[in-house]
Amino acid sequence: MYKIAAVGGDGIGPEIICEGKKVLDAAGEKFGFEIGWTDFDIGADRYLATGTLVTEDELKDLSKFRAIYFGAIGDERVKPGVLEKGILLALRFHFDLYVNLRPIRLLAGVETPLAGKTPADIDFVVVRENTEDFYVGIGSRFRKRQKTVLNVERELYSVKFGLDIESDAEEIAYQIGLITREGARRVQTYAFDLAMKRKKKLTSVDKANVLSDIYGLWREVFTETAKKYPRVTTEFTFVDAITMWFVKNPEWFDVVVTPNMFGDIITDLGAMIQGGMGLAPGANINPKGTSMFEPIHGSAPKYKGLGVANPIATIWAGSLLLDHIGEHEAAAAVVSAIEKSIRDGVVTKDMGGTASTSRAGTYIAKSVRKGK
Ligand code: IPM
Ligand code: MN
Repeated sequence: MYKIAAVGGDGIGPEIICEGKKVLDAAGEKFGFEIGWTDFDIGADRYLATGTLVTEDELKDLSKFRAIYFGAIGDERVKPGVLEKGILLALRFHFDLYVNLRPIRLLAGVETPLAGKTPADIDFVVVRENTEDFYVGIGSRFRKRQKTVLNVERELYSVKFGLDIESDAEEIAYQIGLITREGARRVQTYAFDLAMKRKKKLTSVDKANVLSDIYGLWREVFTETAKKYPRVTTEFTFVDAITMWFVKNPEWFDVVVTPNMFGDIITDLGAMIQGGMGLAPGANINPKGTSMFEPIHGSAPKYKGLGVANPIATIWAGSLLLDHIGEHEAAAAVVSAIEKSIRDGVVTKDMGGTASTSRAGTYIAKSVRKGK
């Protein structure tokens, strides 16, 4: 039995996770495994009632699971950033989920806003670094003078910035981004290994022409890592240019490896070219630990409880989960069942259908069980 933790979270999160569980259970029935689910009550409601985001005990508890299936967090009653940093990023950092894997793939029958592009043209994977860059959460605002110590604690290393800053500006805000040699190396190595299993083509994203220290190191590590993979064709692109190429020539890409913040931005663009946020799954992976699977969209609070949310991104993230735990056949069957639901038109409103969230999920689950 696979022990899997489920975190519905906020907004539409619980509804889509419910559909995802349905489909993964169906895959278990069909392919002969069982999932033991444990629900965790983590999210805005509990935070508003008790002030708790994620406790040490919960983190300890979660580490005993094979994987975490995560819905979405974010709530208009809570100041922006509190839940994002206190829950989602806290989990990514605590479990050192240094790979954020985001397939950008246009499924058959899905409409893309890119004129003339077909599923054969849009099929690549973004490997987003997930623990460093401007996401490390150290920065501050001050007037005139500030003495402070800022820390970053990771499994791989720790960093301490002792700062003494003086300024005569009216007010200053700064945010420190960091890349480490080992942090860049491990995620780029993952991307090279993935490229070896695909078309052996890897694109690295940066902005080394301007932010030359932080992304200069990224680029240098990439060049070094590439030497170990002589069969992989490599290239560099600047982040601004890659947004253009995603739209103009998505067929050019196979695997794309990117620092954290640029990865955040370009995968929303990726989601749109694959048909919308309702269709974009993601995996937060630590190859040696507990990994976490989630749709890349947010909690869409205005659709909460209406039964209109598209469950496909979450169900697809469930397929990534199955792949991760070694149930490859089941993982492929889930994607086929998603494609069948699209072919049969049993889809939610955002895709031009009339199905409710639960009808779409049930239909996919049924197709998985029937094997067609
Ligand atoms: C994402 C989200 C998160 C991110 C937020 C909610 C912290 O936008 O998963 O892409 O920026 O990584
Ligand atoms: Mn994002």
